[in-house]
Amino acid sequence: PLVLHVLGARPNFVKAAPVVRALGELGVRQGIIHTGQHYDALMSDVFFADLGLPEPVANLGVGSGSHAKQTAALLVGLEEVVLEHDPDLVVVYGDVNSTLAAILVCAKLGIPTAHVEAGLRSFDRGMPEEVNRIVTDSLSDLLFATSPDALSHLAAEGVPAGKVHLVGNPMIDSLFSALPALDPAPVVARLDIPARYAVATLHRPANVDTPEAAKELVSAVLDVARQIPIVVPIHPRGRTRLAEAGLVDGPSVKVIEPLGYVDFLSLVRGAALVVTDSGGVQEETTMLGVPCLTVRPNTERPITITHGTNRLVTPALLPAAAGKALSDGAATPSGELPPLWDGAAGPRIARVISAWLKGDNLSP
Ligand code: UD1
Ligand code: UDP
Repeated sequence: PLVLHVLGARPNFVKAAPVVRALGELGVRQGIIHTGQHYDALMSDVFFADLGLPEPVANLGVGSGSHAKQTAALLVGLEEVVLEHDPDLVVVYGDVNSTLAAILVCAKLGIPTAHVEAGLRSFDRGMPEEVNRIVTDSLSDLLFATSPDALSHLAAEGVPAGKVHLVGNPMIDSLFSALPALDPAPVVARLDIPARYAVATLHRPANVDTPEAAKELVSAVLDVARQIPIVVPIHPRGRTRLAEAGLVDGPSVKVIEPLGYVDFLSLVRGAALVVTDSGGVQEETTMLGVPCLTVRPNTERPITITHGTNRLVTPALLPAAAGKALSDGAATPSGELPPLWDGAAGPRIARVISAWLKGDNLSP
């Protein structure tokens, strides 16, 4: 049997690496289809190198565009390549447009699918990712959940419990694998920043797509920079608009290219504070015990608040929240980390997939 993994964007690579490795250890034949949704070397190639991912068997080169144009290109490209390879199972990750397109293509071709990171919900359909999550979960044959709340969301949407497996978080497997290599010192030296610093990553459409939102956000980030020097590895989506809103290099702001996986997590590991709107970074800061302020009205990852270091803030409340986080440090309310975020999610997923391929009735 053949398993294909469809990957397109930065967070997909991080989530897939442990699953690919664990399936390889079980001797499963597999290949990666890279859709080309992310294509800059610092948004794609560096992750293959840092995570030890094998070369894709195909790169569709779909690139950027409006949701309709990008999704349409993904559908056309994926249909062709999936028909060509005729896989027994297609594995998709997270909530990006490549995930949505792959699930639609496979559902129409009658090819079984597995969704890694199923059941997360922000209950905010204004987010493109929420739409992708709902459609993907409704069409998947095997659903792998990272946290218990996901199980109740899927049950409430009528997904049969037999399809769903709580396996923990493969993004945290990647973090654990990288941990011995995570050293802030060389990155801090290379960037020429003080030893005490904050890191900000910002790319959600609601924060960066309009000049008004960008202006409000940047003014809050510049307020934080008056309390602590801040490094901003800039996601290409927000590059122009955030710069126009005033996020430019200054005495206490350093705007840099996106960082590779090991460099970025090294920087985060040594940070006194992280300001973000990323999904994955909320999880990684929880595990690294770094205070995290998420500039969003909601999160599909509430476990990072109840079992981690994450707080939701509005731009208006960000400067005061930063002051408090800098004086309090990382307070984890329950004192317990999320269950099964133990570095063994990839092997759990691989065992279920391997049994499923052999026809063991782990799923309906
Ligand atoms: C996508 C995901 C988002 C995820 C993020 C991870 C969707 C709908 N959104 O958002 O959920 O959090 O990836 O990073 O799938 N660009 C480049 N170089 C690249 C890739 C993109 O310059 O390699 C620029 C292009 O101008 C593009 C813009 O970034 O138009 C947005 O890229 P896109 O893939 O559409 O969405 P992201 O914002 O990256
Ligand atoms: N990341 C990285 N370099 C950066 C910013 C983020 O390697 O400059 C990593 C981060 O550690 C996490 C993943 O990219 O593993 C998250 O991707 P992103 O924030 O783009 O997407 P999201 O999680 O919001 O979907």
